[in-house]
Amino acid sequence: MIIFFVDQNLKNLPLSEILDIDKLNNVDKPIEVANGLPNECYTNANYLAHEREKIFFNKWTVVGVGSSIPKIGDVKPYNLLGIPLILIRDKDMKIRVFHNVCSHRGFKLLDKACTLKNVIRCPYHSWTYDFKGNLVATPHIGGLNNHQHKKFDKTKSHLKEVRTKIWMDIIFVNINSNEIDFDNYIKPLEERWSNLINKEDQKLIVHSNDYGYFSLEVKCNWKFAIENYCESYHLPTIHPELNKVSNINDHYHIEGLPNRFAGQGSEKYEQLIKGNKKFKTFSNWDKDKLKNSEYIALFPNVMIGLHVDHFYVFWLEPLAMNKTKEHMQMYYVGSESANGEYLKELRKENSRFWKDVMLEDISVIEGMQDGRNSPFYNGGNFSPIMDQPTHQFHKWVANNLI
Ligand code: FES
Ligand SMILES: [Fe+2]
Repeated sequence: MIIFFVDQNLKNLPLSEILDIDKLNNVDKPIEVANGLPNECYTNANYLAHEREKIFFNKWTVVGVGSSIPKIGDVKPYNLLGIPLILIRDKDMKIRVFHNVCSHRGFKLLDKACTLKNVIRCPYHSWTYDFKGNLVATPHIGGLNNHQHKKFDKTKSHLKEVRTKIWMDIIFVNINSNEIDFDNYIKPLEERWSNLINKEDQKLIVHSNDYGYFSLEVKCNWKFAIENYCESYHLPTIHPELNKVSNINDHYHIEGLPNRFAGQGSEKYEQLIKGNKKFKTFSNWDKDKLKNSEYIALFPNVMIGLHVDHFYVFWLEPLAMNKTKEHMQMYYVGSESANGEYLKELRKENSRFWKDVMLEDISVIEGMQDGRNSPFYNGGNFSPIMDQPTHQFHKWVANNLI
């Protein structure tokens, strides 16, 4: 049984009764005088109903990765802020996302991940759907042993498909079908990366099966993970080891235009090398930028790390106002680097390195959650130099809410 943490009725309370709209307007000001998002955006359950609609359902939101359902018939249920979904791999290898509800009397079709042979069968009265969502069987609908009814049109009772796009193995959905076309949406980021990973090289990424995934549950609002990821300001205090290799001065800000992503880049990335073992690199990567790596948060809920020899997707599953599951997926260039025995130890080390970094960040993102319970905090102030990408994320949230 899933406990919905968002009461569907909460959205009836206008935003102006939940928080001070002036405070929200104060976010999109010049950084020197702007405040951050008000406390209610991190602590108030009524607020979450607004965020759910305007941030998660109106936007291209991440619900998983394709490599978690690699084979035909692989299915996974997913709960997006109370909305039950099904992720499935169709027979043509295409990934589809459906609302996880039977068209008959609304039973939730799928409860756990599995591999299906040919159909999705509802456990209640056995109505059955193919992987494209077509209703293909309605046992006894016309009475015992009569599986048709002349007044019932099967073609109108298919599963409801969600607008979906797969990019770099990441599954994006737009629940309300109202965001711009994904190819246009991602264009500014692809253009930014055109001399690092072009469209051909995007196809080379392979998920690692042994050290390719880990997850962490954190006791804080999902937004803290994004805003922390966007800045390198905390490197010396929170990541002293990382700071020895690549300090604040080796980093630059990234602010996407139009405002859909932000983050930071480093000019001191060093490939992991053990003896003569190292990962394969992207072949079209600019030779002058081999030491560049970029860490970008694509709003709302995915963070991407791009390096000449590996790529990761760090995406967020909001579980409650103050609870989030972080999913980390690692990819390499080609199957030898991703899954070959020869580089296994290197993958293990790389995965451990990133996990340690993410673990170091937990104390700060949970600490911000605790701090936000203070009624004497006004949303805070930004460093005009160090916090620009973080401010960009706050502006994106505030502007979408208003
Ligand atoms: S609710 Fe699914 S078959 Fe009846
Ligand atoms: Fe960090």
